[in-house]
Amino acid sequence: MDIDDGVTPARMRAVLGTFTTGVVVVTAMGERPLGFTCQTFASLSLEPPLISFSPARTSTTWPHIRELGRFTINVLAHDQSELSERFAAAGIDRFAGVDWAPGPSGGPVLAGVSAWVDCELEAEYEGGDHTIVVGAVRSLERSPGRHPLIFYRGHYAPSEHWDSWPRIGN
Ligand SMILES: Cc1cc2nc3c(=O)[nH]c(=O)nc-3n(C[C@H](O)[C@H](O)[C@H](O)COP(=O)(O)O)c2cc1C
Repeated sequence: MDIDDGVTPARMRAVLGTFTTGVVVVTAMGERPLGFTCQTFASLSLEPPLISFSPARTSTTWPHIRELGRFTINVLAHDQSELSERFAAAGIDRFAGVDWAPGPSGGPVLAGVSAWVDCELEAEYEGGDHTIVVGAVRSLERSPGRHPLIFYRGHYAPSEHWDSWPRIGN
């Protein structure tokens, strides 16, 4: 089937931005802590336990994390949109002033995240101007009572509405 002329990157962004996601920061510990913001995260398989996400081919951080072969997925909470922006920004020390502790693999677990997932790199596939990374889950944890950060059409969902949602328990 031919591709319609109207299928431009701008239209892809506008239309596919209606698909709502959470936001994660993928981190790892090399000579210094590494991390970048990512919304293409997904749970992939239960047995074996696998997750996936898609770094852009232009990502400067992913090649370093790939070389380390281990990384930590940090699921951001509703009040962490600043961290999302910080870990997407260029030309700054992304970890400056950020509170974190090493996870089981040494990958930074950012303070206050709603969950973290420690992974080993399992596979990487072609995906146009991105690649599809598959991670084998080695350990994971969630924080009770932390609501998620939600990203929709280029914006973060306002977090004050969470007060009317049921609290997430254990
Ligand atoms: C909410 C949000 C979601 C993002 N999702 C992705 C993503 O799924 N894949 C990706 O490669 N970049 C994504 N980015 C952009 C990267 O975080 C950004 O390009 C960053 O500069 C990459 O840094 P790097 O060059 O150090 O790898 C996202 C940014 C934001 C704010």
